[in-house]
Amino acid sequence: MHLALFAPGMSTPNITVLATGGTIAGEADSATRHDYRPGQIGIGDFLARVETLGIDAQLTGKQIANIGSEDMSPAIWTHLHTACLAAMGDPDCTGVIITHGTDTVEETAFLLDLTLPTHKPVVLVGAMRPANAVGYDGLRNFANAMRVATDPDAAGRGVLVVMGDRVFAARDIRKSRTRGTDAFQGFPRGSIALVTPSALDWFGAPWRVGADARFTFTTDLPDVPILFVHAAMTADYVERLVSDKTRGVVVAGLGEGNMPDAVRSALAQLAAKGLPIVRASRLDEGLVDREPEDNANKFIAARALNPQKARILLQMVIAAGTTDPAAIQAEYDGR
Ligand code: SIN
Repeated sequence: MHLALFAPGMSTPNITVLATGGTIAGEADSATRHDYRPGQIGIGDFLARVETLGIDAQLTGKQIANIGSEDMSPAIWTHLHTACLAAMGDPDCTGVIITHGTDTVEETAFLLDLTLPTHKPVVLVGAMRPANAVGYDGLRNFANAMRVATDPDAAGRGVLVVMGDRVFAARDIRKSRTRGTDAFQGFPRGSIALVTPSALDWFGAPWRVGADARFTFTTDLPDVPILFVHAAMTADYVERLVSDKTRGVVVAGLGEGNMPDAVRSALAQLAAKGLPIVRASRLDEGLVDREPEDNANKFIAARALNPQKARILLQMVIAAGTTDPAAIQAEYDGR
């Protein structure tokens, strides 16, 4: 199959595929079983299946890990980041595709978005059904990811995620359903393009400004727990969460980042001692803006980032040596 991806005369694109596991490489005991094991198929076998699609591109695979993405770790992120930089620095490489479990793909994508340059497309892709399941979505999603990674217009948009015929920016994407092939949504922007293996339509100009990495990648990610707020929460939850190692806290707050008074006071005491406290929301959509008492409490508002992404940004900011709440707030306002 020679798709209408390239104008006649354009050289065959050369895509580096970095595999980390997930359901896209998963297998079940039968085509109809609900339970399965992610991260079973190696990159060689996966690319052999991709080859049957006949897409006109040169694919070079590398196995970074083969895990369920719940086991994603700083060590694997380091390996992945190094491999991405190497591919992006290779003049023969046109773009990078990363296969990844869907459970934490938004976190890996955002981490890479903050720490990679944007001069070549970097596209993450997964699947909601394992490779031998009836209705496997992995090859379709991968063919779509190929369409994106081979489009010169994908460069400069930051790290992208392709799922279910839609393209999302790393900053916006969030997994919002446990099952089904339409499990992702974007906030504040929905999908930024629609894609099929043979068509790609971008909506709007690139959001990402500047081609350089915004943070230096580090293996030494500071300890930043997330406090999930619920009804009838008491201050001792904060004490149990925070240890001597803790360098900051992200609050998955109620509504617009709210919390019981006792919890707020306990966190304000930590902020007064210099621990950055970021208020996000446990809801799927909506901004968390600064409120008047954030100044007195020295709290930071996560704006559009959900708690898991607010945590990654706080880790990067702290690792870069910034602990002043106003300076940290500027990072959330500007990302
Ligand atoms: C995982 O995140 O590795 C399992 C779930 C999935 O990939 O859909």
